[in-house]
Amino acid sequence: MTTPKIILTQDGSHTLIDTRTGETYHSIHGAIQESEHVFIRSGLDLFSNSASAIHVFEVGFGSGLNALLTYLWAEKNKIPVQYQSIELYPISFETVTQLNYPQLLKVDKQLFQKMHQHREEEIIVSGYFTLQKHLKSLDEIRFPDNTFFDVVFFDAFSPVVQPGMWSEEIFGKIASAMKSGGVLTTYSTKGDVKRALKASGFTIEKLPGPPGKREILRAIKKR
Ligand SMILES: C[S@@+](CC[C@H](N)C(=O)[O-])C[C@H]1O[C@@H](n2cnc3c(N)ncnc32)[C@H](O)[C@@H]1O
Repeated sequence: MTTPKIILTQDGSHTLIDTRTGETYHSIHGAIQESEHVFIRSGLDLFSNSASAIHVFEVGFGSGLNALLTYLWAEKNKIPVQYQSIELYPISFETVTQLNYPQLLKVDKQLFQKMHQHREEEIIVSGYFTLQKHLKSLDEIRFPDNTFFDVVFFDAFSPVVQPGMWSEEIFGKIASAMKSGGVLTTYSTKGDVKRALKASGFTIEKLPGPPGKREILRAIKKR
């Protein structure tokens, strides 16, 4: 368990500062604003007409903000989402109770707290949203052969502090667990990241970024 420092970002939502690396979990220009832009609008929204359940994989559960926004998306669109996330350093319950996301997003805080249970078994959050966490390091994960994610939220700490998380080996492992045409979005447009994604079987495109960031990346798994 980790107890990162909580700070306010420019859209009024909280983010966390990791005590080991000094990295913020989100943009200081707006945590909710950034997550909605990079992961929901640039990734998940491509599936808003889906007739079947969406399978999402997130790298770095962190504060649970992406999971909470995806829960809201599933409820709004009435599309079931099976959400898997990996986290090596879950945040303490004390931290969870202080985050202002339930208040700002008008969600029951007990529902948010339920998402932060420290367990690997599937958590049924609602009729439209289930959550399964892998409480281990990304380099240790082994996806079963029949895993086919539609969407990947690649939300690791930056390649400057954790270059190993953004390697061709990791992207290749994730690509093999995705459907053809599946979508991975991330906030980093670093040259090494683009090269590793291309080498792992993705076509990439740059999209305009949220406030404070010029561009972000969307990668599509080749057919
Ligand atoms: C940018 S933050 C994620 C923010 C998160 N998506 C959110 O909505 O709050 C990166 C996360 O990756 C986690 N992490 C760091 N090293 C990891 C590793 N080797 N395996 C899995 N997760 C890791 C960190 O603990 C942190 O929660």
